[in-house]
Amino acid sequence: MLPPLALNGPVVTIRLFPKAYGLSELLARGTLDATTAEFLRRCVQARLNIIVSGGTASGKTTMLNALSAFIPDHERIITIEDAAELSLEQEHVIRLETRPANVEGTGAVPIRELVRNSLRMRPDRIVVGECRGGEALDMLQAMNTGHEGSLTTVHANTAGDALTRLQTLASMSDVEIPFQALHEQVNQAVDVIVQLQRGSDGTRRVVSCDYVVSAYDQPFRLHSLMRWQPATGGFVVGSAPERLRNRLEATGEHLPDGMPVEASR
Ligand SMILES: Nc1ncnc2c1ncn2[C@@H]1O[C@H](COP(=O)(O)OP(=O)(O)OP(=O)(O)O)[C@@H](O)[C@H]1O
Ligand SMILES: [Mg+2]
Repeated sequence: MLPPLALNGPVVTIRLFPKAYGLSELLARGTLDATTAEFLRRCVQARLNIIVSGGTASGKTTMLNALSAFIPDHERIITIEDAAELSLEQEHVIRLETRPANVEGTGAVPIRELVRNSLRMRPDRIVVGECRGGEALDMLQAMNTGHEGSLTTVHANTAGDALTRLQTLASMSDVEIPFQALHEQVNQAVDVIVQLQRGSDGTRRVVSCDYVVSAYDQPFRLHSLMRWQPATGGFVVGSAPERLRNRLEATGEHLPDGMPVEASR
């Protein structure tokens, strides 16, 4: 006799397009605090490289879209995604989407190829929907070599994990680079990490915002700029390192009110 089937028949997954919330709408929903929102806006304008990190359905794409909206209108933006979800309203947006292989198993165009190709299109910014493989290497290199201000997301549960995950993903490319060299690339490329979390009640929240202070071969080190405190239900903004202040000021931006510069030690 056949064992009873444990399956309960066909299952349909419907993947909805995320709503294109702007940062002000995210603010109104309590996803983050006003100081961090203002800080992130200035970071995008000052061309800092930002990684949005979070678990499944934590709101990464939504945040990436909201942040990308602050890229100035005159810049050429190239978006690269598996499924085109981003909706940017700037004038010069080139949208690229991956293509799966045909029935013969050929003709696939993966994210990696699109990132490489995008570099030949003289982009001012590259926005990659999600780094989940070897394309992380191309993204890190782009961030390090003249495409500062690029943005992407990674699937990780903490900001620290996001850095190690990027390093691991970059090692999955077909280019053989020593793992330690990848560590340096991550340190040099990533400036700010926005960590999202989906609470058990379904709320999406920025639980931390960190600045990467480690450089070259130093162990990854983060400077906490903002933390969500579950006990009080509030966002606690800290001080910013002097180097971050200087970087913003070099581009005519500055730290937002409410985020003081750290007293020098
Ligand atoms: N801050 C927010 N407040 C309320 N709802 C949100 C927020 N951010 C995202 N959402 C909703 O949560 C769902 C998932 O969002 P989104 O696709 O941005 O997450 P994701 O982390 O990119 O997911 P995936 O892991 O599938 O790529 C969407 O329906 C979106 O509209
Ligand atoms: Mg997504």
